[in-house]
Amino acid sequence: MTLRTVIDLIPNKSTRILDFAASTGLFGKLLHDNGYTNIDAFDGSSVCMEQARKRNVYKNFIVEFVSDARLSIDDDSYDALICYGGMAKNHLPISVFSEWIRCVKPGGYIINAFRMKWLKDAPTYSKGKLEAEIERLEKEKKWKFIRREMTNDEDPDKVVIKFAHQVC
Ligand SMILES: C[S@@+](CC[C@H](N)C(=O)[O-])C[C@H]1O[C@@H](n2cnc3c(N)ncnc32)[C@H](O)[C@@H]1O
Repeated sequence: MTLRTVIDLIPNKSTRILDFAASTGLFGKLLHDNGYTNIDAFDGSSVCMEQARKRNVYKNFIVEFVSDARLSIDDDSYDALICYGGMAKNHLPISVFSEWIRCVKPGGYIINAFRMKWLKDAPTYSKGKLEAEIERLEKEKKWKFIRREMTNDEDPDKVVIKFAHQVC
């Protein structure tokens, strides 16, 4: 589902993409296998990034732990940012959305997919906090809503929710 969205929204395979929370690079490999050639990896874990490096699918590696502080990435550096599985209990803070917007060029896409259960089970996102931050940024015209989709897994713990936005 998330790959389908990438292919739909980003037809140019040389688009500069940041794979955020890339971990060992599973999703990056999927992107590369589908023809994307200009991908950088970002993750807070140097151990995971060493594994990701071995896949030979990334150009650059950024090892940085996300807090509420500004990231080291320059403004408007990427055409698209994809985060697959970066939102979970004790993972990325919701303040990261503003940083993603800053790092992606106007008109570029941000695709964020994660297990839907974290919307209620992760205290930093629960009680509507994550959705409220998404909507605040929509209302402030920082990004434009494109898609929200869910997988239809029978096991509710496995359902993945995906948001796609375009930077304004
Ligand atoms: C489930 S994995 C992501 C899977 C990955 N996208 C893939 O395709 O294999 C979650 C990753 O988020 C990273 N992460 C979680 N919180 C983070 C933070 N605050 N700053 C940086 N990285 C973080 C972890 O290091 C971990 O590698």
